[in-house]
Amino acid sequence: MRIAVAISGRGSNLEALLRALGPEAPARVVLVLSDRNAAGLAHARERNIATQVLERAEDGTEWLTWLSHYSVDLLVLAGYVKLVPATVVAAYPNRILNIHPALLPQFGGPGMYGRRVHQAVLASGARESGASVHLVDEHYDRGAVLAQARVPVFPDDTPERLAERVLEVEHRLLPAVVLAAARAGEVVPLEREPTTGDRRLATGDNPAHEGRAR
Ligand code: GRF
Repeated sequence: MRIAVAISGRGSNLEALLRALGPEAPARVVLVLSDRNAAGLAHARERNIATQVLERAEDGTEWLTWLSHYSVDLLVLAGYVKLVPATVVAAYPNRILNIHPALLPQFGGPGMYGRRVHQAVLASGARESGASVHLVDEHYDRGAVLAQARVPVFPDDTPERLAERVLEVEHRLLPAVVLAAARAGEVVPLEREPTTGDRRLATGDNPAHEGRAR
């Protein structure tokens, strides 16, 4: 499966995905897009993966040109902060994913990104937070949730500490969902939360094959 990743920032989720997709993996990142000259583009450049900085990211024309040029099957938003143009959403139904640093449907929507998400979680008194991967439609953070990973919220947490704890699970969750999609040939909900010791993520091995071999 050919993957494009869109980023706006440091790209640690992009890097986690690139690390998880070994040479034998059924998915490959073929293009990284950004609405700006994001620092995270370096992760792609150092691996000779094509990058494109969109001049008018709010207009779907450039997106559609590049996604088609690189024969992209699945578009992954990983810290991409703008709305994806409606023409792109319409052209890639059920083929655009986003990762959000909270347990949707709570703490999502317009303006809910970065530190603000974690501030809102702390202000609510929630005892748990986490990450969600969901399908993208024309609204912020509203498409079907495919997978979540949970972390505890501690009484003395700061937004920064909580963000760090959530980011760690994001780095497992996103590759797990992308690999599951690549194995299934379409986007599918994840059956279980990925855990730290999940070696399959690092190798891209197909657990379905393991099951059949036994
Ligand atoms: C992540 O928390 C992601 O969920 C959010 O923005 C952050 C991006 O981090 N939407 P990075 O650019 O992947 O390091």
